[in-house]
Amino acid sequence: MRDIDRRGLLTYLQGQFEIDWKGCHGIAHWARVRANGLMLAEQTGANRHVVELFAFFHDSRRTSEGINLGHGRRGSVLAEQLRGRFFDASDAEMALLHHACVYHSDGINTGDTTVLTCWDADRLDLGRVGMTPDPRYLCTKAARQESNLQRAHARAIAWVDRQTRWTTDSDQAWPISPKMEGR
Ligand SMILES: [Fe+2]
Ligand SMILES: [Fe+2]
Repeated sequence: MRDIDRRGLLTYLQGQFEIDWKGCHGIAHWARVRANGLMLAEQTGANRHVVELFAFFHDSRRTSEGINLGHGRRGSVLAEQLRGRFFDASDAEMALLHHACVYHSDGINTGDTTVLTCWDADRLDLGRVGMTPDPRYLCTKAARQESNLQRAHARAIAWVDRQTRWTTDSDQAWPISPKMEGR
């Protein structure tokens, strides 16, 4: 996987983030989308660099927690602006990232494998808002596979459990640990 200055990028994204950094569309969600996406990529063959960039950018420009029109497109525009500063990507990768970000909340389930892997990585994290991912709305065979679905769902549920248990959670503010940076 190509290098990303994760600490620099996430610090920048946090600085411009308009909603709750520790909320259901914040950094912990991004980290789980990343983990889900990289897990699925092992089977789908998706471009891991795009999958990781999608995790960081797709919800980065939300302005509210609910239906928030255009947030994927705004995230994609931001990615284009930050290309070359915190990460590099080819034009083909940027095109995939753009498509994945712009249409990620439109319920589409056909298209390029890397794009579909990004969308499934996001959908597999619905447990954070009390929903169980429905295999009928997942795009890839890998995401519909019971073991992957359960693994991703368990990640989401564990976060919900922690949210309800901890009222002060400074440890959770940075779930991307330096250990993950080489992956
Ligand atoms: Fe989103
Ligand atoms: Fe998301």
